[in-house]
Amino acid sequence: MKREQLYSGKAKTIYKTDDPDTLIAEFRNSLTAFNGEKKGEMELKGYYNAQISKKMFEMLEAGGIKTHFVSMLSDIDMLVRKVEIINIEVIVRNIAAGSITKKYPIKEGSVFKSPVLVFDFKSDEYGDPMLNDDIAVALGVATREELATLRKLALRINELLVPYLDGKGILLPDFKLEFGRKDGEIILADEISCDTCRFWDKETGKSMDKDVFRFDKGDISKAYEEVARRIVPEIFK
Ligand code: TMP
Ligand code: ASP
Repeated sequence: MKREQLYSGKAKTIYKTDDPDTLIAEFRNSLTAFNGEKKGEMELKGYYNAQISKKMFEMLEAGGIKTHFVSMLSDIDMLVRKVEIINIEVIVRNIAAGSITKKYPIKEGSVFKSPVLVFDFKSDEYGDPMLNDDIAVALGVATREELATLRKLALRINELLVPYLDGKGILLPDFKLEFGRKDGEIILADEISCDTCRFWDKETGKSMDKDVFRFDKGDISKAYEEVARRIVPEIFK
């Protein structure tokens, strides 16, 4: 049962439950980009992202990755295990897109020979600056052992996601993960959705993710719905 609100982020609100070990993540329709500078709303966004995330978590669990997902309590309310969030955005890149093509001489669309992993410090105040291991340790956000575990988990998740999405006609240029500590272990938390991944249609190369909103690339509702149709076709029956 939903108790008091614990925290409201840019796209999800977190509530306590009667059980101290679980929380409810409510997926909202609000959209933000560029550290909250650009704001919007999309009907059904919370629904599509919640359902897509649920499917991704189940698929990863089946592949041996521990996640915070417990069950869905409604279309948009996800029961999750309470974790201590690690303040690192773990970004995995397979094809160059977005910020890496602005910061470095790397052309959009170039395929990396092996995945490129980036750790960003999760901090709105500081604009999510990139970390290296020494800075992360100095900041106290994670230990060296934890950083190595994050790297291993993120690469394994990538190995599971890429073929899964390819089977649905979707390329995965990059995505962002967040992890948390639970009972001495590191488990996958947050969400995996159109807000946190770049999804490109395999045939046309068209964006089917938040880039449509970020860069006014077209109809965001259609883009998210198309991803939902491919990943969770059962919700359209
Ligand atoms: P970037 O190219 O803007 O650095 O984004 C890399 C990936 O991380 C992309 O899939 C979008 C995702 N992302 C988030 O989920 N949250 C963020 O705050 C940012 C900046 C990126
Ligand atoms: N900067 C994030 C993004 O573009 C969202 C935000 O911080 O508002 O994904």
